[in-house]
Amino acid sequence: MNINSKVSLHTGRQMPIIGLGTWKLKYDTANIIYHALKLGYSMFDTSGDYGTQPEIGEGIARSGVKRGSIYLVTKVEEDDEAYSATKKNLQELDLDYADLMLIHRPPETGYGEKLWEQLIRAKEEGLTKDIGVSNYSVEQIEGLAEHTGVWPVVNQIEWTCFGHTQEMLDFCNDNDIIIQAYSPMTRTERLDDERLSAIAERYGKSPAQIMIRWNLQLGTVPLPKANNLEHLKEDIDVFDFEISDEDMSALSNLNEMYSALGDLKYA
Ligand SMILES: NC(=O)c1ccc[n+]([C@@H]2O[C@H](COP(=O)([O-])OP(=O)(O)OC[C@H]3O[C@@H](n4cnc5c(N)ncnc54)[C@H](OP(=O)(O)O)[C@@H]3O)[C@@H](O)[C@H]2O)c1
Repeated sequence: MNINSKVSLHTGRQMPIIGLGTWKLKYDTANIIYHALKLGYSMFDTSGDYGTQPEIGEGIARSGVKRGSIYLVTKVEEDDEAYSATKKNLQELDLDYADLMLIHRPPETGYGEKLWEQLIRAKEEGLTKDIGVSNYSVEQIEGLAEHTGVWPVVNQIEWTCFGHTQEMLDFCNDNDIIIQAYSPMTRTERLDDERLSAIAERYGKSPAQIMIRWNLQLGTVPLPKANNLEHLKEDIDVFDFEISDEDMSALSNLNEMYSALGDLKYA
């Protein structure tokens, strides 16, 4: 496993095993994207409502990295017309296509069938390579797939050793859906947990690196956000050690259904 490793999606395409989150990446965004690409990040997660798309596009353009070597994830909102919102996002990013378009969250009623049909059209027309969901429960994914016949490649959800469910992990493994882990460092809220720190110390790594590595070894895809250059480097310096089976279990056992956002929307 290294920074260039990929996971396979059920559509046959591949996705990097780690990506940079960009919610609140508000300071010097284009420069951070530029540096991230130079450091080896290739996946970026954004959304129409993050306000980061124009500068992400700028950082990508400035880096000179080929479009084919970059994996761009963005999202449409539950009250969007998803086809035109996809086009608007691409315009802001100054890109011809996204690699992955997600429904940001399920609408209050139904499963988001209309949004999904519009994303299917966007995919058919080449505006995005793949489509997925975010903040969906097992029941909502099943409902969406039953109504449209098309399964998402990804469910992007809040996912850490302090907050996750075996039910979602099993369901996604059984149905070839990749979990993208958002807020993978609990937005720093649990980085000072003593049990986590004790494990981190044994590996000579930081608590943030242990949380990221826990995701990688579980087969879930972390999206750590870092505006600080030292954080940016640290968050991908996670490929020179391996957490033992025993410590993976100890970390998973820290689960208290913790959510930095209020609640685990999928649980
Ligand atoms: N789909 C959704 O509904 C949804 C919801 C939430 C998030 N997301 C996505 O997931 C991404 C990540 O989640 P998040 O931004 O909520 O939280 P996060 O990645 O868990 O935490 C980000 C915070 O951790 C700090 N940090 C980064 N690396 C660190 C390190 N090595 N040591 C100590 N602190 C470190 C960052 O500081 P600096 O910024 O100062 O470096 C920032 O304050 C988002 O940016 C977004 O792309 C999606």
